[in-house]
Amino acid sequence: MNGDFILGHECAGVVEKTGAKVKDLNVGNRVALEPGCTCGVCEFCKTGHYNLCKDVEFLATPPYHGCLEQYIAYPVNMCFKLPDGMNTREGALVEPLAVGIHAARQGGVTLGSSVIILGAGYIGLVTLMACKAFGATDITVVDVLSKRLKYAEKLGATRVIDASRCDSVKEILNKRDGEGTDFVFETAGSAVTIAQTPILVKRGGTIVLVGMEAQNVIPYDFSKIMAKEATIKSVFRYRNIYPQAIQAIADGKIPVQEIVTHEFDFAKTAEAFDFVIDHKSEVIKAVIKIS
Ligand SMILES: NC(=O)c1ccc[n+]([C@@H]2O[C@H](COP(=O)([O-])OP(=O)(O)OC[C@H]3O[C@@H](n4cnc5c(N)ncnc54)[C@H](O)[C@@H]3O)[C@@H](O)[C@H]2O)c1
Ligand SMILES: [Zn+2]
Repeated sequence: MNGDFILGHECAGVVEKTGAKVKDLNVGNRVALEPGCTCGVCEFCKTGHYNLCKDVEFLATPPYHGCLEQYIAYPVNMCFKLPDGMNTREGALVEPLAVGIHAARQGGVTLGSSVIILGAGYIGLVTLMACKAFGATDITVVDVLSKRLKYAEKLGATRVIDASRCDSVKEILNKRDGEGTDFVFETAGSAVTIAQTPILVKRGGTIVLVGMEAQNVIPYDFSKIMAKEATIKSVFRYRNIYPQAIQAIADGKIPVQEIVTHEFDFAKTAEAFDFVIDHKSEVIKAVIKIS
């Protein structure tokens, strides 16, 4: 496509106008928008795996513009009403949270699970919150940035490990009597951490790959996967998560707002992007306010 392109796919707002056939939403309602609209008729859509629909129209994925604009026209079936007491800032954070919930669900995290999360960026932290909400009781979070690890601690990680200061794999295995954990979530998107997953997973455990590494082919020890009879799962966005994610935030089970560190006005959008790129160790999550 040619010309300017609008970014943004995590958003919520207030209904300004509704189409003639819309019954369940009214002007003034607050809604979170799920950014992928799918065909509804293919095998994947019909079996509920709509995140795998090849005809998806996803916000800010060319040729479809994103949501960084004052108004957006959007199909009602992908607008999710926010309950009383839940604000549009929390509504916008439903999108990344849905990735974390989908990851925990894909893995099958349950009451008493032990978990390692490699990477404590926003995706790692929402995965932590989702694992906790699903009942995990032993959660180790690894990163190389201390501020992010502090947030992981604040959000209830059992232990955090700074991989810039130690051999993180050795440290984790020491702390867990040589055994890994039931679940290992890779959310750093680095070849280094992806290669650590077969070492860190417990026998019979599950690895969930969430991070996206730019390098397509990376070395990976499959002999460990075989010997441990480990399962590898992957995550592509999410499906059928928005209603439960919204309810979990509204009920206070997932304090998604706690990881917002910076807020910018819409007029300063370009500055916001530059700031986040230049201050990676400081920013956990920044939001843009459109009033
Ligand atoms: N699968 C999906 O559908 C999906 C959806 C959204 C994002 N993602 C991917 O998830 C990943 C994380 O996204 P994000 O927004 O949290 O990014 P981010 O860059 O904020 O977080 C990545 C974190 O990994 C840490 N890290 C880097 N090297 C490390 C190492 N060796 N050991 C431990 N930690 C290390 C970084 O310090 C950083 O905090 C990205 O690759 C992104 O593309 C995937
Ligand atoms: Zn489809």
